[in-house]
Amino acid sequence: MYLVARILDGKKVAESIHQELRERLIRLKERGVSLKLTVVLVGDNPASASYVRGKQRTAEKIGLEGEILRLPADVSQEVLLAEVDRLNADDSVDGILVQLPLPTHIAEQEVLERISPEKDVDGFHPMNAGRNFVGLDAVWPCTPAGIVNMLHREGIEIEGKHAVVVGRSNIVGKPMALLLLKENATVTVCHSRTKNLSDITRLADILVVAVGQPNVVTQGDVKPGAVVIDVGMNRVDGKLVGDVDFAGVSEVASAITPVPGGVGPLTVATLMQNTVALGLARRGIKEE
Ligand code: GUN
Repeated sequence: MYLVARILDGKKVAESIHQELRERLIRLKERGVSLKLTVVLVGDNPASASYVRGKQRTAEKIGLEGEILRLPADVSQEVLLAEVDRLNADDSVDGILVQLPLPTHIAEQEVLERISPEKDVDGFHPMNAGRNFVGLDAVWPCTPAGIVNMLHREGIEIEGKHAVVVGRSNIVGKPMALLLLKENATVTVCHSRTKNLSDITRLADILVVAVGQPNVVTQGDVKPGAVVIDVGMNRVDGKLVGDVDFAGVSEVASAITPVPGGVGPLTVATLMQNTVALGLARRGIKEE
């Protein structure tokens, strides 16, 4: 029974997406079109600061303009909203991302709802979340979309499979469940109040774990041959680990994403795809 799982190399898949985008952006530049992503970072949480730098670096690498707007940790709700208004009105800005989490004195939902839906590269605005809910065209949140993108590109079939999602956040769990449903999986969502979690995860053909806690899923929680997607990014003794016990689970899974180098790069690559898609739609540009 001891298979050794195929490691799903997120960096490699992301790089092929970057290459495709790079080529599209070169062609657009030849037509005088250049697109811009602005990432808003409030405060100096080291993890957030590092993610934001990664997003900017990737943007620049593929030929998007990547801008970071840094605001102090004690910025007021009013000033933050005014900055979002300014970016909404700035015609050179194609995508706006406000890095979460925000400091506790900020009403996060109000900020997300202030971002113009046509520049909402995260797909977090209720207009976009609602459009996705009813099956209308809209950008999908980057992490779930990146995961489906990777499954497609790695030749892993979703249709008809039992997908179990552990976690129900607005960023990952909920949109992940909806997107897997759109891909014709049979979907079960588990969360912190789920009883007998292991009995349910062991039914999964595709198991997505997005809890934010190390070792939530260990070898005994996984059906032999399952595909395991680890969304966790936990820092333990200065080391980045996921939510899944990688060593144990990779002995029973057929495929597994590592941390780092699994889901993370796909999230960033999908953010770039969303920025290009929204920029072209807002500017009414068709690619040749
Ligand atoms: N923080 C963690 N993941 C995300 C994400 O996908 N988007 C934003 N805006 N903040 C995050």
